[in-house]
Order: sequence, then structure tokens, then C-alpha cells
Amino acid sequence: MDKIYILGGAPLHGIIPIAGSKNSTLPLMAASLLTDETLTLSNVPRLVDVTTMANLLIQHGVELSTKRKSSECIYDGDILELCSKSVHNTTAPYEIVRLMRASILVLGPLVTRFGQARVSLPGGCAIGTRPVDLHLKGLEQMGARIKLNGGYIEARVRGRLKGTKIVLPQISVGATENLLMAAVLAEGETVLINAAREPEVCDLAHCLTVMGANISGIGTNIINVYGVNNLCGTSYKIRSDRIEAGTYAIAAAITRGEIELLFTCSSIMRTIFTFLKKCGVQIFSTERGVKISAVNGDIMGVDVMTEPYPGFPTDMQAQVMALMTTARGAAMITETIFENRLMHVQELIRMGAQINIHRTSSAIVRGVPKLSGAPVMATDLRASVCLVLAGLSAKGETIVDRIYHLDRGYERLVEKMAACGACIERVRT
Ligand code: UD1
Repeated sequence: MDKIYILGGAPLHGIIPIAGSKNSTLPLMAASLLTDETLTLSNVPRLVDVTTMANLLIQHGVELSTKRKSSECIYDGDILELCSKSVHNTTAPYEIVRLMRASILVLGPLVTRFGQARVSLPGGCAIGTRPVDLHLKGLEQMGARIKLNGGYIEARVRGRLKGTKIVLPQISVGATENLLMAAVLAEGETVLINAAREPEVCDLAHCLTVMGANISGIGTNIINVYGVNNLCGTSYKIRSDRIEAGTYAIAAAITRGEIELLFTCSSIMRTIFTFLKKCGVQIFSTERGVKISAVNGDIMGVDVMTEPYPGFPTDMQAQVMALMTTARGAAMITETIFENRLMHVQELIRMGAQINIHRTSSAIVRGVPKLSGAPVMATDLRASVCLVLAGLSAKGETIVDRIYHLDRGYERLVEKMAACGACIERVRT
């Protein structure tokens, strides 16, 4: 199993191109099930999760081809062509769903287009129980009959799903995406109330619109969908990954360096950048993107609470925690989306961080002058990258184990950091 070795202390200086968004790509790939014409996605990141979704779709019968960018060209993502005219299997098997929870996103498209789906229940995961009840209740309200049988969700509808008013009791990115995809081919109007407003949900809605869907309220918490009889193929460019951009912004800040991020859409980074500015980081627009600079001084401790968009993203909480470990003063970090997403705390403490957890969802981080390198391991994607960030700033050597989590969400992480002067290496053990 590979490990990452880091010799900390070098300030990062350089340019990092940001890849296409993982959390936009996965639902957009699932959306290809909604039409028998070809959906062409560009700026697709090269990630294990994308491969997992590709494998899931292929076993449903989707014809999929990838035009790989050359390995020298770091500026454009891959191009994926997906054609669902020969789908023959509406079962999403446990063997694939257990690898990636986003597999649940095939449920809505399969039921609405083929009238049936059998999708393995995703089960719990390291960061929380993560139920899918809102996905299922919404589909039931649209007329699907849902049974749980042998660990599988079995959904059926005679004829088309029926549009209706669905009030989501809690903001859910996944449920909004699943129900949106179900609604575009349903009969009549669906209103999703308390819908998620994440940029990745908007990416999906925009692409569906270009495919012929009739959607209004995109980017608000009330989405209206007027069902159409069929959708057509299109080409769609995936926007850049705001979490990858935020992670490299923290890499600049934690090493007191300066990094220019290419292809970042600043408007969707507002909450992350506002937080960093409060910490004392300088951020300015450049012709090609955004420059993040922390060469001029201290990082201050600033409180943060995760919330649905436009609030502070849960996917940046672990990285911010790493930054706060060497900030001046204290910071209270509160996780409100998932009940078990502070697993990185114990590993940061092993590196010399001073952190106290309160009531399982909040952590008080008191900044120390320097972390010290240590062997560490993490249980999920963002916790793993938090440990890499901590290692970059720590004194001495950090060895990060179980780095397969990183391959799910960061394309060429080691290469991008090394190009900015980090002493970082991936070693096969
Ligand atoms: C969530 C994050 C998303 C992040 C992703 C991966 C939010 C709102 N969502 O999306 O930003 O990229 O994790 O880390 O920040 N829930 C239910 N029943 C359901 C669905 C969800 O109770 O049927 C609960 C979840 O347990 C969670 C909250 O709702 O507490 C938000 O979950 P949801 O947005 O659906 O999760 P993801 O789509 O995985």
C-alpha cells in the first residue's frame, strides 16, 4: 500500500491548476442515464471515484469512452462520452455501491426513465450514518413503490413518476440531485422545497436544462421542475473544484507561502476566502485565477461552523482545522453536517496540536508555534488531506498511511504540491 512521506517546513510557492469538480462530475455522469443520446462531459478529473461511477454505469449498459488528456497537459481534464441507449440492467450492485456512496445517484434516473431500479443500500460510513431516507421518501411521493429487500432498495413505478411538492426536512445535496433527476422526466410539475443550493447541484441543473429539461429556481432553495417526455444529448464542461482550490489555498496559508490557483471561479469560493482573509491571508485576483499569499505574517485563529452552501463547506472543515493548529490564538470549529467528522483530531494531536473536543461536534483548537512530524493515518478523504497539510507545516518527517482515500478526490496531489517546492513523495511499500 502506498504512503506519502513529507519533510515539513518548506513554504509553498508556485502555480496550481485546479481540476474539474468531483462532486459535479459524479451526478452528471449519472444524468447520462436520462437520455438515449450521448452526453459528453469535459474537464473531468482523473479520480478513483470517477472510475467507480464509470464502472457502475458500464455494468448498467452505458457505453462509455474516455478521451484522455496527455499526461504532460495539466490544464484540461478528460473528456467522457456516455451513451445510455442500450441500458439492460437496472441493478446497482453492493460490490460497487459499497466503494462509493454517490452510487445512490443512479436511483432517480433509473426509476424515472426505466420505471424500475434495484440499488444496494449504501450503509454507514466513517463520517456518519448518512441515511438515504429523504431520497426514498421523495421518490415515494412521486409515485414510486419502494421496498427494502436483502440490503437493496427496490423501486418501481407503473408509467411515469408524477410531479408533486416535496418538502425536504433537511438540506441534502444527494437527495436534491436524485429528486431533480427523477423530476425532469416525471409527469407534471415537481417543486423541491428546502433544496440544496451547492454549486455542484447548480452544475447538474444547468446541464439538465441544456439537455432539454425545464427547471427554474436553480441556485435557490425552491426548485421548480416541469417534466418533459425526453431529454437529448449535449456537451457540458464541468466547473473547477472549489474544495480542491480551497485545499491548496490552505496549503499556501499553512506553509506561509504563496500559490496562484488557476481556473478558480472566485464567486463560489466566497465563504472560504472570507474565512482566510479573517485569518490574515491575502487573496487577490489575477488574470488566470486567484493568488493566495501568507508570506507577510501570522495566521490568526478564527471560529468556523460548517453549514450547507452558501455556508462554510463540511468538506473544508478538516483542512481548516490543520491551519488553526498553528494559528495565533484559539479557534472553535463546529461540524453541523455530519456527526462523526472530527476523526482527524486524534491524529493532529499526535503531531503536537492542542485540541479539545466538546460534545462530539465542536473542537477548540489552541494554536502552537509548530507541529512535529509523525506517522499518521486517516479514515476519509478530507481527513487524509488535512494530515498532508499538517505534515507540510510540521517540523521533521510525516508519513501518511491509507492514502487511497486521497486518490478518490485529489488528482496528482503529490505532483502539484512538489511543483510548488514541497518535500513530498509517494512511496510504494
Ligand atoms: C454532503 C455535503 C456535501 C459534501 C458531501 C461529501 C452538505 C449539505 N452536504 O453531501 O457538501 O460534498 O457530503 O462530504 O453539506 N441526510 C439524511 N437523510 C437523507 C440524506 C441526508 O438524514 O436521506 C442527512 C445526512 O446524514 C447529513 C445531511 O443530511 O447529516 C446532509 O447530507 P447530504 O447533503 O445528503 O450528504 P451528501 O449528499 O453526501
